[in-house]
Amino acid sequence: MRVVHTIADLRHALAGARTPALVPTMGSLHDGHLALVKLAREHGGPVVASIFVNRLQFAPHEDFDRYPRTLERDCELLKSVGCNLVFAPAEQELYPQPQTYKVQPPGDLADVLEGAFRPGFFTGVCTVVMKLFQCVQPSVAVFGKKDFQQLMVLRGMAQQFALPVEIVAGETARADDGLALSSRNAYLGETERAEAPQLAATLHVVQAEVLAAAKTGARLDAAALEAQAMATLRSRGWAPDYVALRRRSDLQAPTATAPDPATEPLVVLAAARLGKTRLIDNLEI
Ligand code: PAF
Repeated sequence: MRVVHTIADLRHALAGARTPALVPTMGSLHDGHLALVKLAREHGGPVVASIFVNRLQFAPHEDFDRYPRTLERDCELLKSVGCNLVFAPAEQELYPQPQTYKVQPPGDLADVLEGAFRPGFFTGVCTVVMKLFQCVQPSVAVFGKKDFQQLMVLRGMAQQFALPVEIVAGETARADDGLALSSRNAYLGETERAEAPQLAATLHVVQAEVLAAAKTGARLDAAALEAQAMATLRSRGWAPDYVALRRRSDLQAPTATAPDPATEPLVVLAAARLGKTRLIDNLEI
């Protein structure tokens, strides 16, 4: 496995390579990322993992400076799962001047949920991913469903710009107790780590209620269900930003008063702070 730090070395390493598969990451890798690399390997071409903590997607008050940077360990892990090439540019390499050209995703998809609480986040994500696509020119790019909204925004970007890349989704990897794997789990203290699976548990309660209502055709008060889930989290010491039941197709609220996930696939998404750590999760219904 080669590790390169410049766009020139990356292009040189990929010269003549057919159909690379890209796994973009911000490093601090866990089994979820490694599962994405394994998925990328199924594509058959060389697998490139990028490691770049992208300042553009962090608001000034967010954790850009303390985001864990563990390049050496990340490279060992990537090697162990058969990654072929690591692209780990310095900030100066990817952003030699302030990045004033940006990719702005549409508000109905990118200014809701995460975008409402992290203004500019998806512009930062789209801009860096567009740039990584230009550098690597992958025929496949793999993203985790844990960042469900990000996946949808990037799918839309690839489609609307006719990018010659297939966006592939990897399932959310979870710890045995249900906690979705995330680099930010490293911030959790012992007591917080014990509480953290409650986010997924809360989503499961919502899922069960939606499925039960769909079975009987009962009216579903989505807003009440979301409020109840947030109240549960609050009572346990969380500060939820949102728990939202949405259509999987466009992340808008379900139209029917008795939504049937069989005909209108749904997803329940949540973001909540536990102590100083903000966690997100979602569950398809
Ligand atoms: O999901 C992430 O880790 C990041 O948002 C991504 C896609 C690597 C862009 O910086």
